[in-house]
Amino acid sequence: MRAEELTEEAAECRQELDQYEHRIYVCMAAGCVSLQSEELLEELQDAVEERGLEDIVAVKGSGCMGLCAKGPLVQVQPAGLLYGEVSPRDANDIVESLGEEPVDRLRVPQQQQFYGNQKRIVLENAGRVDPTSLEDYLAADGYAGLVKVITEMSPKEVVDTIYESGLRGRGGAGYPTGLKWRGVYHAPGDQKYVVCNADEGDPGAFMDRSILESDPHRVLEGMAIAGYAVGADKGYVYIRAEYPLAIERLRKAIRQAERNDLLGTSICDSDFDFEVDIRLGAGAFVCGEETALMHSIEGKRGSPRPRPPYPANYGLWGHPTCINNTETLANVPTVIRNGSSWLAGIGTEDSKGTKVFALAGSVNNTGLIEVPMGITLREIIFDIGGGVPEGRDFKAVQTGGPSGGCIPAGHVDLQVDYESLQKAGSIMGSGGMIVMDDSSCMVDVAKFFMQFCREESCGKCTPCRVGTTQMYDLLDKITRGDGQMRDLERMEELCDLVGNASLCGLGQTAPNPVASTLRYFRDEYVAHIQDDTCPAGVCDL
Ligand SMILES: Cc1cc2nc3c(=O)[nH]c(=O)nc-3n(C[C@H](O)[C@H](O)[C@H](O)COP(=O)(O)O)c2cc1C
Repeated sequence: MRAEELTEEAAECRQELDQYEHRIYVCMAAGCVSLQSEELLEELQDAVEERGLEDIVAVKGSGCMGLCAKGPLVQVQPAGLLYGEVSPRDANDIVESLGEEPVDRLRVPQQQQFYGNQKRIVLENAGRVDPTSLEDYLAADGYAGLVKVITEMSPKEVVDTIYESGLRGRGGAGYPTGLKWRGVYHAPGDQKYVVCNADEGDPGAFMDRSILESDPHRVLEGMAIAGYAVGADKGYVYIRAEYPLAIERLRKAIRQAERNDLLGTSICDSDFDFEVDIRLGAGAFVCGEETALMHSIEGKRGSPRPRPPYPANYGLWGHPTCINNTETLANVPTVIRNGSSWLAGIGTEDSKGTKVFALAGSVNNTGLIEVPMGITLREIIFDIGGGVPEGRDFKAVQTGGPSGGCIPAGHVDLQVDYESLQKAGSIMGSGGMIVMDDSSCMVDVAKFFMQFCREESCGKCTPCRVGTTQMYDLLDKITRGDGQMRDLERMEELCDLVGNASLCGLGQTAPNPVASTLRYFRDEYVAHIQDDTCPAGVCDL
């Protein structure tokens, strides 16, 4: 398909969707599917057919709508209604109500509260397009960014646009994306690669899975734009095998894009070639680290190597490689469509745009959210999240998974941006956000994350292999009531040693949950050691 044909096709797809008076979207992300949303979709389709309404009512599957706590979710457009906890038995009532009064018993009361404070860029299509339909993506301006770069921009202009937008990597470290792309663009070599990191090993995190389940073409478009910018003709999506739905949709999207000249050779009749393959990971946390990930793609054991050399110069099979997180790449098409100053206008001075979080734990509205950088933790937890259930007290929030830390309730007005979170002893990470109430023991929380790091340590370097085990043993001792005050000093020494001497980010950040709980909740450690009590009543002392 040529670029002009694609634009025409997109307009036709939009027109086709607009001809329906009502569109019913059923959430088909993994959470809702596990709650029977497939049956619900069928019942709704049957209910529409039985009434002969197929020409005016479209019933479609969609990506994650976000408010997972209320799944299965259904949206009715253009009325803007959100129904929650919908069962297949509710299908007739929903169809009967179209154009009439909404079905009150199914309405989600927190709809405004949950969505009103969010800003959706990466998730703009989630809940609005059928992830299995290329036409839906085209109707939502899909691939317009790719067409724009191919027809109107030089690779250098694309790199500069991403640089000027201020986009930073969403995979954890927050490295400026444009700077990374510039490095690969300038790196000498005829063969270059783009890698999408969809390994997502943090416990509690499901942002990248949801993005791929909801809007796979967006990620492919972001990869193709990256390929055009840096001079790569081959891309890999590295995704863990535990994400079968995301993999299935991604495979389908790749086939659709290839058939329509949006991937493959001579994309949109240009001289740009870019193909994408999928590589499945076996579920090791360390394989999300970029050098380990590349070893894994090369068929080697997934363990990290020292950097430099960085992947931008020496990546897959020794060739320059641009490796980005799924959410980073999902930002790219919108940035290209809207221009660099548009993204630069959202967020804070140094953290631009939005961040997707998997909001979990002791919070009423658990689910997937996207918020502007600079929002406060209070706004996320109490406005969007609806506060802590059962009238319990908010105690802390954990961000950044095993590499992050616990921020106490006293810091609830902290701004969410890369630097503020780091100053507070945590990190933005890839987007896990776990809210804890007063029934959580912070020593136990630190032990949980240390157990994870100990088990996931690849064992290649001694500080991480031995240090995480020693820290875990000390934490275990304290939660059993056998701790001594000098264990706290020992643990602080180990935090310093493991953090500074480990080979890769796994070990370098593994001490964070311990260090942050020692910093903010030292009294709880002391209570376990000196008073033989667990203030939260979790540990069996
Ligand atoms: C132990 C470990 C696990 C990681 N896991 C992931 C992951 O699952 N997804 C991801 O995008 N980045 C992960 N990273 C960060 C990557 O090494 C790399 O920085 C990132 O993919 C770069 O993309 P970005 O610049 O778009 O953030 C991990 C790093 C470490 C040290």
